[in-house]
Amino acid sequence: MRDVAIIGTGLIKWGELWEKSLRDLAVEASLNCFKDAGINKVDTISIGCMLGGIFNGQEHLASLIPDYLGQKHVPAMRLESACASGGLAVRTAFLEVASGMADYALAVGVEKMTDVSGGEATYGLAAAADQDYEAFHGITFPGLYALMAKSHINRYGTTREQLADVAVKNHHNGALNSMAQFPFAITREQVLSSVMIADPLRLMDCSPITDGAAAVMLTTVENARKLKKHPVVVISGIGLASDTIAISQRRDICKLDAVEIAAQRALKMAGKTIKDINFAEVHDCFTISEIMVMEALGIVKPGQGGPATSAGLTALDGKFPINTSGGLKSKGHPVGATGVAQICEVVTQLRGTAGKRQLPNAKVGLTQNMGGSGGSCIIHIMEVKS
Ligand code: COA
Repeated sequence: MRDVAIIGTGLIKWGELWEKSLRDLAVEASLNCFKDAGINKVDTISIGCMLGGIFNGQEHLASLIPDYLGQKHVPAMRLESACASGGLAVRTAFLEVASGMADYALAVGVEKMTDVSGGEATYGLAAAADQDYEAFHGITFPGLYALMAKSHINRYGTTREQLADVAVKNHHNGALNSMAQFPFAITREQVLSSVMIADPLRLMDCSPITDGAAAVMLTTVENARKLKKHPVVVISGIGLASDTIAISQRRDICKLDAVEIAAQRALKMAGKTIKDINFAEVHDCFTISEIMVMEALGIVKPGQGGPATSAGLTALDGKFPINTSGGLKSKGHPVGATGVAQICEVVTQLRGTAGKRQLPNAKVGLTQNMGGSGGSCIIHIMEVKS
């Protein structure tokens, strides 16, 4: 396999973007990525998108996006693994370059979620759950994560305040990110008094409904060195894993096995342990998920995710910063785009260009992007190669 580097990132401001279509979002983020990379022609495009059909009546993105990006005839494909679709698109681009099938590969993630009503958005998202045994009976994604949160609270004594502190920390970071959907700080009291969505999760425990896109461009390390445009950021480890789609079938409702296994695979590939990682972007679709992910990654022991968050471990100035971008909670969660945007944030930190949210010692970063209630997970590990 050839060593693979990320030479471009492309983001747009996320939010409720009524004046832009699904294709506009994907094209705008991709063009920003082309500009950042200094490249205007790619050999392949992989597109992460979960709900183009249900939300926008638009499938066949493998034709639409290359066409509107001025890249007609390139090999292109659309990848879907619920909210992990974006991460999967990046992994596909990585394989294209690593295998020698392509020299320049674009991965773009996109989702346009606000054109439908809240009820329709909830219905569409629930398509990532087990339709026969979960969604059909009326459970929603906030409901599934609420079950996990209740179990975590009962087993480990995780508190409502600790859950709230995840949101407070991520909004603090998101307030420093001009691309975020909700770039403002919130207090613990605001989280605890926000409207109840699915007990114990309140509005401010939930990632929002978002329109957005993000893109990254990959090539060989050799090519990246020749460009001399940015520090050379390599993908040194990737881990992909799956788990049961229904949470009732899991080994343990308080554990995210797909995250744990994907992390082990990525760390093994990178020749590292979790102690070698400085910071991470993780899938905080709900506050409880960030806590459970911290435990599954081995950053803390089971049950310690809540106390560690409240003690500041994952804050911008903590020992293991998590979600410097604002995470899904503040930056937004256009599902197909999230995994790609996480990678953009890690690359930005590794390049040292994250502005007010720049970490002083960003050397090795990790992204964790999860599908549904943890039925799939993809991890990327990135570092600067001298
Ligand atoms: N964080 C902060 N503010 C939020 C927010 C969030 N997550 N969601 C909505 N808001 C704000 C809105 O901007 C709006 O503010 P305004 O009144 O000043 O305009 C207000 O709160 C109400 O928003 P609305 O869109 O009417 O809320 P809703 O009740 O329709 O939806 C949720 C709220 C939590 C149900 C919805 O965001 C949701 O389903 N989130 C989870 C998405 C999901 O499951 N993703 C997949 C995860 S695996």
